[in-house]
Amino acid sequence: MKSFWVLLVSLQRATGFSLLVFMPILFSGTVLFAQGKAETYVGMEACKGCHEKQYARFTTHSRMSSSFSGISRMKKGLTGEEVKRCYECHTTGYGKPGGFTSETETPGLKNLGCEACHGPGSGHVSSGNPKEIKRRLDTPDCDACHAKERVAAFNYRPLLYGGAH
Ligand code: HEC
Ligand code: HEC
Ligand code: HEC
Ligand code: HEC
Repeated sequence: MKSFWVLLVSLQRATGFSLLVFMPILFSGTVLFAQGKAETYVGMEACKGCHEKQYARFTTHSRMSSSFSGISRMKKGLTGEEVKRCYECHTTGYGKPGGFTSETETPGLKNLGCEACHGPGSGHVSSGNPKEIKRRLDTPDCDACHAKERVAAFNYRPLLYGGAH
């Protein structure tokens, strides 16, 4: 913890920002510290047993649940680097702890699953505790992939469920 404070203070000196600016970082750091571990991605199959209804609706009605097919279809002619850019939006947790790495290593994360919206679910899956998963969602949770230039006026609230429920 001591080295954390040292880091904060040197950040403050280096950037000239008030310590207040770093309070959110301190807070989230403390939360992770208290939990003892960062949440990781487990894939939608892990949700099926306890949430059969949501699982059935999502896999039946939402194109998000087959989002990898778009990559497979268009892969021909793309460079490896270009395909990796697709992963950011068309797979679950790419580039994040426990997220998608490749079709062979993490087949359960190659499509977008529940965790694309609800966030990594390792803690919640092992405890079943509703407090350990994000429920309240809003359009900022979608913006990373549904960027403004991609979808005009993506503010349509009924779409928040994205066909998942
Ligand atoms: C061991 C059983 C179990 C598993 C596995 C499980 N859940 Fe849950 N989940 C529950 C229970 C129990 C609740 C509280 C009752 C309810 O809302 O159905 C809950 C609630 C939730 C909620 C609402 C939280 C709230 O604050 O009300 C979300 C969102 C959720 N789960 C998502 C997921 C996702 C995503 C997965 C897979 C990564 C998952 N769950 C896997 C048992 C489970
Ligand atoms: C990690 C990236 C990502 C996030 C986060 C994300 N989406 Fe998506 N979403 C996609 C992609 C990619 C598609 C297109 C899938 C396809 O057609 O292959 C899609 C498709 C959709 C669709 C089209 C209908 C369908 O059948 O799936 C809706 C509606 C949608 N998303 C709503 C949402 C909402 C609402 C949120 C936030 C709560 C959200 N998405 C978060 C990537 C994302
Ligand atoms: C910034 C996020 C993002 C990136 C990066 C991205 N996509 Fe998408 N893609 C989406 C979203 C969101 C949708 C669905 C909404 C829409 O159609 O605008 C979508 C839809 C698609 C669809 C249409 C699916 C269908 O069934 O109609 C295909 C195909 C697709 N993307 C392929 C790709 C490929 C290939 C790449 C990489 C070269 C890629 N996407 C990169 C977010 C992204
Ligand atoms: C496109 C985004 C999106 C995806 C994908 C998604 N959810 Fe949700 N989920 C939501 C939203 C939005 C809510 C409502 C939050 C609220 O109450 O404000 C919600 C609520 C829930 C709840 C609380 C009870 C309910 O039905 O309202 C559970 C449980 C849940 N989701 C589980 C899942 C599971 C399991 C999956 C995958 C099979 C999944 N979700 C996929 C957006 C999503």
